[in-house]
Amino acid sequence: MSSANFSLASKVKLPSGKLMPQIQLGLYLMSRREASTAVRWALAAGYRGFDSAQMYRNEKEAGHAIRNFLANPEENTEGLTRQDIFFTSKLASSSTSYQAVRRSIRQSVDACGLGYIDLFLLHSPYGGREARLTSWRAVEDAIDDGEVKSGGISNYGVAHIEELMVSEPRIPPSVNQIEVHPFNTRTDIRAACAKYGIVVEAYAPLARAMRMKHPTIIKLSKKYSCTPAQLMVRWSLQHGLVPLPKSAKRERLLENVQVGGFQISNEDMEEMDDLDEYLVTDWDPTDAP
Ligand SMILES: NC(=O)c1ccc[n+]([C@@H]2O[C@H](COP(=O)([O-])OP(=O)(O)OC[C@H]3O[C@@H](n4cnc5c(N)ncnc54)[C@H](OP(=O)(O)O)[C@@H]3O)[C@@H](O)[C@H]2O)c1
Repeated sequence: MSSANFSLASKVKLPSGKLMPQIQLGLYLMSRREASTAVRWALAAGYRGFDSAQMYRNEKEAGHAIRNFLANPEENTEGLTRQDIFFTSKLASSSTSYQAVRRSIRQSVDACGLGYIDLFLLHSPYGGREARLTSWRAVEDAIDDGEVKSGGISNYGVAHIEELMVSEPRIPPSVNQIEVHPFNTRTDIRAACAKYGIVVEAYAPLARAMRMKHPTIIKLSKKYSCTPAQLMVRWSLQHGLVPLPKSAKRERLLENVQVGGFQISNEDMEEMDDLDEYLVTDWDPTDAP
């Protein structure tokens, strides 16, 4: 168990060699206006990582909010620069057309207006083997061309990870972003990622707020004098994951990252692990053909 005192300043090192913030703000299901406001609040609170996607339709607003913050000395009191921010986006659909994927990546870079994207993921394994491997080649070449700094995959199950790794990619994936929380622990996929040194980002780390009143979550939140959301984020961090809690509300996005003041014991971590019920909060493409 980690005794690290996690905060918004905590970073993990990716296989690409780049550093990535260990807690980031998820931007799914935020309207353009919400994304724009939430990113500003989050930057002011110390968040440095933002998880967007082509499918979320807020790359442009998130990117512009980051640029505006950096350019405004009244808000950017620490004198942060683009290099201090970590911006992720994801390819909506993998394709057997290499050129279509390259074009799509460039469109994301243009949309966010940040000059480059720190982490670009293939959003899902849908599309079949040829689309997955062709799309990965396009990500590798986008890295060579400086459009993207690190590449990764999302919703890849064990078989998809093996398929990519046996193809001997020129650049291995840095990240697999999957649903992980105490109610869906995905130990199989996490083990496959560990085997190849792939960092696991935990999406829906709050189980989409579906289990906030679960008796074990309530009991342990009382024990550690924290909120259910803080308990779940801390569980994620102590497992070495990179949680991406989403909130469009200022008080909640502040609350969700106050996780440095307590440590969940080994015994309680195990009790939380045992809550696994394979709860899928959104979609589960991990066994796509
Ligand atoms: N790669 C993928 O396929 C994929 C899929 C899903 C998600 N993701 C990424 O992961 C991020 C997080 O996942 P998610 O948004 O699905 O779920 P989540 O972060 O587990 O939960 C978000 C939900 O919890 C609520 N919430 C947030 N903080 C709370 C608090 N302190 N107390 C009570 N409720 C709280 C939010 O409502 P309010 O906003 O109203 O506070 C929202 O309804 C996404 O935003 C996205 O970036 C990726």
